[in-house]
Amino acid sequence: MTKRPSILIARNIFPDVVARLREHFEVESNDTDGVLSPQELVARLQGKAGVLTTGSEKVDAALLAACPQLKVVANIAVGYNNFDVPAMTAAGVVATNTPDVLTETTADFGFALLMATARRLTESEHFLRAGQWNRWALDMFAGAEVNGSTLGILGMGRIGQAIARRGAHGFGMKVIYNNRSRLDAATEAECKASYVDKATLLREADHLILVLPYSAESHHAISAAEIAQMKPTATLINIARGGIVDDAALAQALREKRIAAAGLDVFEGEPKVHPDLLTVPNVVLTPHIASATIATRKAMANLAADNVIAFLTTGRAVTPINTLA
Ligand code: DGY
Repeated sequence: MTKRPSILIARNIFPDVVARLREHFEVESNDTDGVLSPQELVARLQGKAGVLTTGSEKVDAALLAACPQLKVVANIAVGYNNFDVPAMTAAGVVATNTPDVLTETTADFGFALLMATARRLTESEHFLRAGQWNRWALDMFAGAEVNGSTLGILGMGRIGQAIARRGAHGFGMKVIYNNRSRLDAATEAECKASYVDKATLLREADHLILVLPYSAESHHAISAAEIAQMKPTATLINIARGGIVDDAALAQALREKRIAAAGLDVFEGEPKVHPDLLTVPNVVLTPHIASATIATRKAMANLAADNVIAFLTTGRAVTPINTLA
């Protein structure tokens, strides 16, 4: 009998997904759910042909050199800035991610964070819980209008488009966007979104939401200079990746009310959060949960499992990021 391939599940995932993987492979899992150090990850990958990772595990040239039997790395995430894709291609390792299955859920959350930020939900809840509410007042926690306002979207992939539809069709917003490449006319019409340059986007958006991938190019795409171009009444929402916003510059701008408010689901160096962000009231902070519904997180884990099963049994992944020669 031929020996079944061995794989590692680098983090704790749903038992039924583990059971599916066990039908095909010898499976080692990290049931403590702690993030493995690079050394631990390399040690546990010895002899493994595949691994399911999350955005917390880095797959770089050093790891690949130390794990020559590795053939497939399946990220349980749509973003893959934790992968050195050229190094993976050079090492003959296929990289996969989880597009599509999280699009609508993540767009829902983008809107939830936008609404919470514009309408000062957490700030007012803290006030109430602290026993400070002793009268109704006309201007109490008066926030920014969402319906009919201008929604700016930086990054117009699947999630950006799903947010545009919610804004345009659900809230009657004027939608403007900036992206590396312009959408085709039919998609623009369906999303009711107009392409503008980045300066116009910053200047005209009442609510600016970031949905672009992290890369060297997008590092600090929103820093002090960009914030200075925004309306003083604007809100900024980041559901993309930490590092796209200069969090220190944002905290200072929020403190000085150079923009009205921000909603952040991702942070530079997370799970650490810049201490200045923790002390400004006009920011809503959530711990990277934009895709976190049970159904969607299960769908992501299942798609990552599908990728490992398909690649190791047929040589073709379902949603590959790279093409091997
Ligand atoms: C993603 O899918 O990229 C989410 O941010 C979870 O990491």
